[in-house]
Amino acid sequence: PCSRLVLGIETSCDETGAAVLDEAGEILGESLHSQKEVHLRFGGIIPTVAQQLHRENIERVVQEALERSNVDPSLLSAVATTVKPGLGLSLGIGLEFSQRFVRQHNKPFIPIHHMEAHALTVRMLQPVAFPFLVLLVSGGHSLLAVAQGVDDFLLLGHTLDEAPGDTLDKVARRLSLIKHPQCSTLSGGQAIELLAKDGDRMRFPFRTPMGRTSDCCFSFAGIQNQVKMVIIKQEAEEGIEQGTLLSCVNDIAAATQHTVASHLAKRTHRAILFCKANGLLPLNSPTLVLSGGVASNQYIRKVLTIITEATGLHLLCPPPKFCTDNGVMIAWNGVERLREGKGILPPDVDVCYEPK
Ligand code: KG4
Ligand code: ZN
Repeated sequence: PCSRLVLGIETSCDETGAAVLDEAGEILGESLHSQKEVHLRFGGIIPTVAQQLHRENIERVVQEALERSNVDPSLLSAVATTVKPGLGLSLGIGLEFSQRFVRQHNKPFIPIHHMEAHALTVRMLQPVAFPFLVLLVSGGHSLLAVAQGVDDFLLLGHTLDEAPGDTLDKVARRLSLIKHPQCSTLSGGQAIELLAKDGDRMRFPFRTPMGRTSDCCFSFAGIQNQVKMVIIKQEAEEGIEQGTLLSCVNDIAAATQHTVASHLAKRTHRAILFCKANGLLPLNSPTLVLSGGVASNQYIRKVLTIITEATGLHLLCPPPKFCTDNGVMIAWNGVERLREGKGILPPDVDVCYEPK
């Protein structure tokens, strides 16, 4: 009863999530409404559709999390909500709801950075001390940073164009994988992982980008282009319509996944060497944390293991449920900030969301 309780709310993209956590990271109750199937049918996220679905579900999702945890709002220590980055229209729904909620119940408000939450989730599951290296890969982001404290990140690299999840989703859409019997309910990344299992990754030798760039940034647009060119060529050779390729879909999936994995691994290797050269990680059990939706991919995990084993780092990756967006990671970020007394606002402060 003396433990502080935090309600976390997430609406930055296409998941409406809420959860109540205690200070030890015990999940007392959670609820998650995914819009994925709707967006799959539309062939991508339409912001106004996402906004409308958040609006329709936020009240129920928060109610469910509170009821499942058996916690009355009066017992909460604070409410934590994602305010950046993400889709403006989606963020707005979570923020608007939260500001009304904290005013009604007179609770402190903790604005949360979505990527900070992805990076810290691992600490809810096991003790991981700062500093550690973190690679975050999702539908909207890819970044490498040294997590030096709860609100202290040294950014080493980020994507210069699109994110790895976005690239996998676009390739999947170009191949119409949603029409494949095994893939009809899978996200693009999941579909590619599944089909790649029966594919030959060497059949299409795609180039890994940025081989000569001496930083830790990422670029995925070039990979996407190379894959599209191959698809167009194959369609032309077989004289078939766009999106009806069947013959080498597994090989294309395997080669795409391998190239994305290889790019992530090479940039991460650079980051590890940079950290070592500059004493940014502890000598004793240095750690790489891998998270974000794309980190659910077992092949990508395996390729990164090769890098961490070769450089003497420990690879930690939350289970897929905690790699993708949810309310739990936001509540946990709230717990971490409450413990440090950082970024906690009174209920009547007006907060803005920031898409970037
Ligand atoms: O973190 P997340 O749930 O939402 C964002 O913040 O973007 O990540 C969603 C992304 C999607 O692009 C999806 O295709 C990708 O993660 N993803 C995967 C896998 N599962 C989800 N990519 C590769 N392999 C997977 N198994
Ligand atoms: Zn995310």
